[in-house]
Amino acid sequence: MTIVDWEALRRAAAEATERSYAPYSQLRVGAAMALDDGTIVTGCNVENASYGLGVCAEVTAVGRYRMDDHVGKQIVAVAATDQYHRKLTPCGRCRQILMEHAGPDALIDGVRGPRPLRELLPDWFGPDDLTR
Ligand code: THU
Repeated sequence: MTIVDWEALRRAAAEATERSYAPYSQLRVGAAMALDDGTIVTGCNVENASYGLGVCAEVTAVGRYRMDDHVGKQIVAVAATDQYHRKLTPCGRCRQILMEHAGPDALIDGVRGPRPLRELLPDWFGPDDLTR
């Protein structure tokens, strides 16, 4: 079992908010994911003048996880904060995206503290639903 340094993970998320592009909502979000080898992968939200196209910090973190050659390592914990270092619980879309890459046992930080993803997204839609 990997021991998660939640304070370090939240700090990494808060630092990632500095890279955020959020001129429309003004909510600068950073996400940090701890991998089972101790690596921390971060992401930030990237908004767009076509508002609905904006992407969340957790999504860019998953993109980096895949692009920076971490595939195969388990994502064990995820934290997100805004620029004021307030904890955020990932939105529904992010929960769905994290489920596919981090799995149901990944611990997700939030306003009520870390909880397994399965508790935040019960009865999730997954790849098995495509083959029935
Ligand atoms: N946002 C995230 O980056 N992650 C979440 O889990 C919730 C919301 C971003 C999206 C948008 O750029 C801003 O926060 C305000 O909704």
